[in-house]
Amino acid sequence: MSASDTKERIAWIVRPAKIEDESAVNDLLMNSYGSLLADKYEAEFLKKSLPLITKGREELLTCGTWYVVEDPRDGSLTGCGGWTFRQPANTEGGLKVPHLRHFATRSDVTRKGIGRAIWNRSWQDITKMSPKGDKTSLEVFSTLTAEPFYASVGFQKVKELTLPIAEGCDFPCILMRREALS
Ligand SMILES: CC(C)(COP(=O)(O)OP(=O)(O)OC[C@H]1O[C@@H](n2cnc3c(N)ncnc32)[C@H](O)[C@@H]1OP(=O)(O)O)[C@@H](O)C(=O)NCCC(=O)NCCS
Repeated sequence: MSASDTKERIAWIVRPAKIEDESAVNDLLMNSYGSLLADKYEAEFLKKSLPLITKGREELLTCGTWYVVEDPRDGSLTGCGGWTFRQPANTEGGLKVPHLRHFATRSDVTRKGIGRAIWNRSWQDITKMSPKGDKTSLEVFSTLTAEPFYASVGFQKVKELTLPIAEGCDFPCILMRREALS
């Protein structure tokens, strides 16, 4: 029997986020990023950057393709994440590509398939909403922490870069890409 056969299988409920989820999403982002990013980012840097990256953004909470995950056993929020169309990294104008946004799993329930459940839902919607035969790639600016997760759903590292998130605060991350909708 493999390790994944022994995992508890939970039928996570994935639904589009609503503006009313804002407060619970803020708590979730702080819980997740505040605890899980500590393996790759310095404590001093997190103190400065966490308040800037742990706010549920209105554009995501209302876009319909950014989701929250509920625990079917008690209705609590265990994850969030999704996608929007965006300009590919380092290009100007032209075609926008699906870009994964702000994935987070509550720190006490990692490695139980929540991130993958959001990815599966995103993938389902991306393939439905993209023209037939579309060969565009998908992108994500991954935290240094989440690289193995995105690799597990088919993304490859393109390069490391920093995203300016505020005056004097550049956030180190990894541009990852998944080729073609196949
Ligand atoms: C990235 C994140 C959302 C993954 O969520 P998750 O619910 O734990 O992921 P899943 O349980 O669906 O994992 C799916 C697969 O990804 C890979 N994976 C996930 N976390 C991993 C880790 N810490 N180390 C190695 N592989 C990992 C594994 O292959 C895993 O499958 P397995 O558990 O059967 O081996 C979560 O770790 C997180 O919230 N991180 C902090 C916030 C963050 O960095 N978000 C990314 C923003 S760009």
